[in-house]
Amino acid sequence: IQTDIPSLKDTVPFTLGVAFNRAQTLGEHGQLLLRHYGGVTPGNDMKWDATEPEEGRFTFTEADYLVNYAAEHDLKFRGHTLAWHSQTPDWVFKDGDRDLTPADRALLLQRLENHIRTLVTRYKGKIAAWDVVNEVIDENQPDGMRRSKWFEITGLDYIRTAFRVAHEADPGATLFINDYNTEWPRKREALYDLVRKLRAEGVPIDGVGHQLHVNIEQAPASNVEDTIERFAALGVDQQITELDVSVYTDFVSTYDTVPQDVLAEQGYRYKELFDVFRRHASQISSVTVWGVADDGTWLSSFPITRLNPPLPFDDELQAKPAYWGIADPSKLP
Ligand code: G3I
Repeated sequence: IQTDIPSLKDTVPFTLGVAFNRAQTLGEHGQLLLRHYGGVTPGNDMKWDATEPEEGRFTFTEADYLVNYAAEHDLKFRGHTLAWHSQTPDWVFKDGDRDLTPADRALLLQRLENHIRTLVTRYKGKIAAWDVVNEVIDENQPDGMRRSKWFEITGLDYIRTAFRVAHEADPGATLFINDYNTEWPRKREALYDLVRKLRAEGVPIDGVGHQLHVNIEQAPASNVEDTIERFAALGVDQQITELDVSVYTDFVSTYDTVPQDVLAEQGYRYKELFDVFRRHASQISSVTVWGVADDGTWLSSFPITRLNPPLPFDDELQAKPAYWGIADPSKLP
């Protein structure tokens, strides 16, 4: 890896984190991670399908490894994620072959409670922040709530239960509600209304996570700034939890090689976003990029398989304009 460039984490006034897995703690990826990042989030290894594939059978090999690695290297850990509609095994919403219905509300909440209590207790004191619920908003619904099985069966009670139990299990952890597209006004307002309502009831939501999966055209720093200011009024902590900047503005284009001017453009998007984060460092306690380097991005397989390098470091672990957009914009082409 390059050792003649600044550590990214030293260039920002908040924790700079990265999504990771075991492979990315090894070899040069591990060196890059430790040199440039001060926080970590497991990309997949703490999701329900990874940690409780069958009822009551918990699998913590990967999660334990990652938590111990972070502790050893003094990295802040974001737990991700306790309740989501995706990457959740089918058994959670079934009784034998039968799909659960609202009449099974108590059973589903019991499963949720057991899952969350087990995870949060296991890592008590070692996980600074948890994404307690993920992607619960659908701004196209009249009430703003995603029609997940969680919601269909329990209404808002799964959110209430999730935060209550996480707080009981580790009162010292900062508890987040996490979502994407929060930079867009309708989603922002739907999330804002939910957080305000639940906090008024006493639900222990400490923070709002903005995923920030954006692209080179739609990485609207001014929208992001409006969102941060809006939630600041609620007095919640805020974190940027899954930042990446796709080089495409649609779901079909592909490049054989990404042109230099597109990578430069991407660098400017990173710069504009980090200008906003730095200005709001008193509201934002951490910014996490969603992958150690371009070779590990989820975007190379979503929504189609194509070359899509969205991160500060390329496949060869070399700094891109995106890196300079964060570290030193005067070096942008
Ligand atoms: O583990 C299997 C492996 O055994 C199999 O051979 C391989 C073949 O496809 O798939 C592997 O599972 C993949 C998994 O990542 C681990 O690499 C899944 O197919 C793939 O769908 C999964 O994608 C993850 C995605 O969440 C799924 O929802 C991404 O890595 C992960 O970065 C992404 O993260 C989400 C956040 O949790 C929430 N916000 C959106 C973000 C991006 O989708």
